[in-house]
Amino acid sequence: MSRVEQVKAKERDAVKPAKSAGPQALPLWPGVIRYYWDFLPVERKECIVTLHEGNTPLLRCRNLERAVDPDLSLYLKLEGLNPTCSFKDRGMTVAMSKAVEDGSRAVICASTGNTSASAAAYAARAGLRAYVVVPQGNISLGKLSQAMIHGAKVIEVEGNFDVALKLVREAARQFPITLVNSLNPYRIEGQKTAAFEICDHLGKAPDYHFLPVGNAGNITAYWKGYKEYLDIGRLSSLPKMMGFQAAGAAPIVLGRVIEKPETIATAIRIGNPASWQGALAARDESGGAIESVTDDDILAAYKLLADSEGILAEPASAISVAGVIKKQKEGIFRAGDVVVCTLTGHGLKDPDIAIRQSAQPIRIPPDLNRLKEFFERESVR
Ligand SMILES: Cc1ncc(COP(=O)(O)O)c(C=O)c1O
Repeated sequence: MSRVEQVKAKERDAVKPAKSAGPQALPLWPGVIRYYWDFLPVERKECIVTLHEGNTPLLRCRNLERAVDPDLSLYLKLEGLNPTCSFKDRGMTVAMSKAVEDGSRAVICASTGNTSASAAAYAARAGLRAYVVVPQGNISLGKLSQAMIHGAKVIEVEGNFDVALKLVREAARQFPITLVNSLNPYRIEGQKTAAFEICDHLGKAPDYHFLPVGNAGNITAYWKGYKEYLDIGRLSSLPKMMGFQAAGAAPIVLGRVIEKPETIATAIRIGNPASWQGALAARDESGGAIESVTDDDILAAYKLLADSEGILAEPASAISVAGVIKKQKEGIFRAGDVVVCTLTGHGLKDPDIAIRQSAQPIRIPPDLNRLKEFFERESVR
């Protein structure tokens, strides 16, 4: 057997138990708290609130490599495949479990949508009340529907995310309600597990890690995760952290608060990130960058992901790929670099955008001849 055949056979055996081996136990993924128990602050197992989040695919994307830079090894971390379809679940399981440990009865968050969806679902599972404050008219319908169906009390405010966050911080000070935004340090603890998984899958850290930056909790969390793995000797190098903001909502890039942030990527329409300092530390300590791209760049990357890899991510997530494209044009990469992009949320949360970016359906009467005419025009023979 050639070397390539040997590797292929090994891969095949690893994923497919032989028929002759009889029934095999397929281990259940226990969720991030049980899997990364030693790295997380939860103390009482009976208080764990989990939807078995985490263990998301790290997908090698050869089509994208061909389109962007064939000399790169490009991976996507599909965080939209968490239980509520965004990365927030990793942090929410820890924040909610700690809230239960601490005897809390209710949680509150401000949200551009995904935090509210996650908080509502985990609160439902824990039997806690959830209050979510969202910018009126500015969150996607999918996210709003998640928060509503899980029974959260949804409070819409006239104003953006930054205004909503200010309100909930004050509310959490004045009422016995636990704040579950990423200002809650347990959220960051949970989210760092995505960095662990990437290293556990690759067997090392990537050379570059690209991700969107909104309130900047996630970039802070990833950097913490990578550093913790380095500290215990599981890594010999760290990635350069590459954060991306939308040009109309780029406070960290511009170095000032944006009063009226604007971008099609509603999840990162944030003008005054709570974890600003964390993002700067990740950038500076890793030798990375925090930069911006336009909404057109975001939509081009969004479409490229859908067309070339069959991946529907939300626009805010696609910014990480737009970032790779931008930096590739600037020539920063070396042949063989391993690049990971986090796709933070699932594109089905915002189907309107998918429909607007696609060719519209063709309507015909229920008549086979009309269908034949159509296929002839398509040159299908
Ligand atoms: C899909 C998606 N991507 C990125 C972000 C930005 O993450 P962070 O606020 O931690 O920077 C968010 C935040 O809501 C999000 O929902």
